[in-house]
Amino acid sequence: MDGTHDIALRPFAPRDLAQCTDVEQAVYGSGAYSTYFFRQLHDLNPALVWIAEDRRTGKIVGHLCAAIGQGGEVGWILNTAVLAHYRRQGIGRLLLERGVAELRAAQVRRMLVTSEPENVAAIRLYERLGFRAVRTEADYYGDGYERLILECDIEGE
Ligand SMILES: CC(C)(COP(=O)(O)OP(=O)(O)OC[C@H]1O[C@@H](n2cnc3c(N)ncnc32)[C@H](O)[C@@H]1OP(=O)(O)O)[C@@H](O)C(=O)NCCC(=O)NCCS
Repeated sequence: MDGTHDIALRPFAPRDLAQCTDVEQAVYGSGAYSTYFFRQLHDLNPALVWIAEDRRTGKIVGHLCAAIGQGGEVGWILNTAVLAHYRRQGIGRLLLERGVAELRAAQVRRMLVTSEPENVAAIRLYERLGFRAVRTEADYYGDGYERLILECDIEGE
């Protein structure tokens, strides 16, 4: 963090829905998750949705969503997003570290995340936290586009 912004992480709360969805729209456009998605993820596991807030303005500038599946064995990082103006200041890393810590605390045995193969920023970020590309999958979202799958194998640590 270069000190330009004073950022705090906190768990997502339902009062954040509108702002969080705005951040999502600004970052992903037509590929954005909906308000319903954030609310339902929060209902499923409130420890796995985090937001980054600019302390000075109270503005939400990023978020991270995670989930646990396969009988508690596999933790998924579903989404890491930071508003463009706030990038390259360590906020994505802070969010991801929090998500990974929560998944570890839940004792998952594997962690997975997917990315567009060209998304250098996301891939580097995930690699910094110990994820490694394991395979690509064609038509991942049924859209003709390939998706890179990265895994952080935490067994035996
Ligand atoms: C990916 C994203 C969340 C990174 O957020 P961020 O706050 O800028 O990331 P950080 O500042 O914490 O960067 C952490 C590390 O990630 C890597 N990284 C981040 N942005 C990068 C870029 N544009 N190019 C190369 N590496 C980058 C670097 O290794 C960086 O560490 P460093 O600054 O010490 O070199 C952000 O770019 C974003 O929201 N992108 C659009 C949404 C998206 O693609 N999300 C991922 C979906 S799979």
